[in-house]
Amino acid sequence: MTAKVIDGKAFAAGVRAQVAAHVAKLAEENGIQPGLAVVLVGEDPASKVYVKNKHASTIEVGMASFEHRLPAETSEATLLALIDSLNADPKVHGILVQLPLPAHLNSELVINRISPAKDVDGFHISNVGLLGTGQKSMVPCTPLGCLMMLRDHHGKLAGLNAVVVGRSNIVGKPMAQLLLGDSCTVTIAHSRTKDLAAVCRGADILVAAVGRPEMITGDMVKPGATVIDVGINRIERDGKAKLVGDVHYESAAAVAGAITPVPGGVGPMTIACLLANTLTSCCRANG
Ligand code: GUN
Repeated sequence: MTAKVIDGKAFAAGVRAQVAAHVAKLAEENGIQPGLAVVLVGEDPASKVYVKNKHASTIEVGMASFEHRLPAETSEATLLALIDSLNADPKVHGILVQLPLPAHLNSELVINRISPAKDVDGFHISNVGLLGTGQKSMVPCTPLGCLMMLRDHHGKLAGLNAVVVGRSNIVGKPMAQLLLGDSCTVTIAHSRTKDLAAVCRGADILVAAVGRPEMITGDMVKPGATVIDVGINRIERDGKAKLVGDVHYESAAAVAGAITPVPGGVGPMTIACLLANTLTSCCRANG
């Protein structure tokens, strides 16, 4: 079997087009422009690229983008004061603090200072609790993007066995909650899971979010399964820089029914969902 390639790039372009159309309508009919504030502390090269891409996509769909770049030695008090001012700013509907933060800053404290209504990452403890109890919340962008692609491919997900490999707060845990919300039978596997390969082979839906290059290989995939690769790992191969996922693409694609590539799978969906969350936040703020 050769897997169907789930084209996240094209899917994300469609989501962005829908968001852009809604933004244009808001401007025309209500004179409102959604605004997204992104805060970057320090000089992490990968974070700088992500922030640049977020800014460009925000502008492209017609939203206002407010970028705040702070030096790595910024104090917690300064960062919290900036978040307070963004919370109070009516032009700002979404706030994202790029992670990881420099080690001297308490990420939990910082994230929980963001108004839950403007928490477009869905990382605030209130939104985590709402998602965990099946209530309306801001949903983290990466798992939301994965869910959209899975629903599009499968239609209904009810009753399918889903295995999420990885237990991070950003992807693994919220992904499992979302799949449970769609009535999948969900297993969260991780670095201490016994016989990971056998657990993975039980999956109709396999989501890899471990941050380890090409760790999930074809022999761990059930024939016909849908494989969602959340990993973005920069490696060097044959002297060249290369971007690979958490899934060994060639071997997995030979067994799976459908698979997301890296790049061009989950990555573009994350930014599209960030814009969708910002639009949702703006609509909720304006009744
Ligand atoms: N760093 C890596 N992924 C993310 C994300 O989804 N949101 C934020 N704020 N930081 C990140």
